[in-house]
Amino acid sequence: FDLTGHNTLGLRASTHYARRIEDASELPELFAQAERDGLPVRLLGGGSNVILGEHYEGITALMATRGKSLSEGADGAVLLEAQAGETWHDLVTWTVAQGLWGLENLALIPGTVGAAPIQNIGAYGVELCDRFHSLDAYDRTTGSVVTLGAADCRFAYRHSVFKEQPGRYVVTTVRLQLKRNGEPELSYRELSGLGSVDHPARVMDAVIALRTSKLPDWRVLGNAGSFFHNPIVSATVGRAFGVANPTAPAYAQADGTIKLSAGWLIEQAGLKGYRSGPVGVSERHALVLVNYGGATRTDLMALAEHVVETVQQRFAIALKREPELL
Ligand code: EPU
Repeated sequence: FDLTGHNTLGLRASTHYARRIEDASELPELFAQAERDGLPVRLLGGGSNVILGEHYEGITALMATRGKSLSEGADGAVLLEAQAGETWHDLVTWTVAQGLWGLENLALIPGTVGAAPIQNIGAYGVELCDRFHSLDAYDRTTGSVVTLGAADCRFAYRHSVFKEQPGRYVVTTVRLQLKRNGEPELSYRELSGLGSVDHPARVMDAVIALRTSKLPDWRVLGNAGSFFHNPIVSATVGRAFGVANPTAPAYAQADGTIKLSAGWLIEQAGLKGYRSGPVGVSERHALVLVNYGGATRTDLMALAEHVVETVQQRFAIALKREPELL
């Protein structure tokens, strides 16, 4: 089964078996059958944050569960519940169209609802954990469904418990806390000019315009968004870096650490627009690696290694890969 169209990087990839999961209740049977057949199973959502190998000798389960609902609480609080296979951006536009505040800054992020908590998606001043209520997940180690709250999920910048224990949980349902009378989150520099905003659609439209102008569209040019984390360094390292690179962006974190800008580091290392065979560093945004067509994981990983080494040599800063090797 060809998976080239099932990963936003468009890497050449296939799997021995593929199985669409239409209902979370199919999961126990899927894993039991796979165990009897001695086959490994992996989960795939929208394929927007994964680097697929050329062939998988097992079952790739494609999460295709559908359903979303709202329940109104007191004081304009609204609880949103969505199934894992829903498309994230469609969920955002659906809530914003109803005048609900909460997800507008997270518009146009590729992928599914079930994948959103895995890397704690974030953009333009908001992270999933800021809107999170709880989720249901199938625990493969016990064969039971568990409900996890925010603390259980251990969210941090582009991080969660699901990254600490890969493969253990299959997220089936996500619940988010929205507001009918919300406040716009405009702390991100490029949104601060919006002024007084009376509807979340104004923020969403601005975010869509920003993303469209900066980030290549994966439907046109395969990519997985930011390929590296923005490195978080100690105050000491950050200060020394700032003295040596006074024009570099640097953001002080609440805990005293400093977040640097990986896109800046890669561009200053001379790699923006760099191309190596079928893969390259985007000409528009240095943090995005792109597939010009026909690339495999091997091509991409060689490029990623080159970027990491070049930045390490130039700035002595270690870049960490964002998308997961699957
Ligand atoms: N920059 C450059 N050259 C470039 C790109 C960026 O010098 O080619 C510098 C600029 O100084 C710019 C700064 O980097 O001001 C930050 O760039 P940008 O605002 O595009 O944000 P980012 O730090 O590169 C992060 C997230 C994005 C998210 C944006 C907006 C990570 C790894 N990435 O990118 O998330 O959309 O902020 O909040 O944290 C993703 O995870 O896939 C993703 C796109």
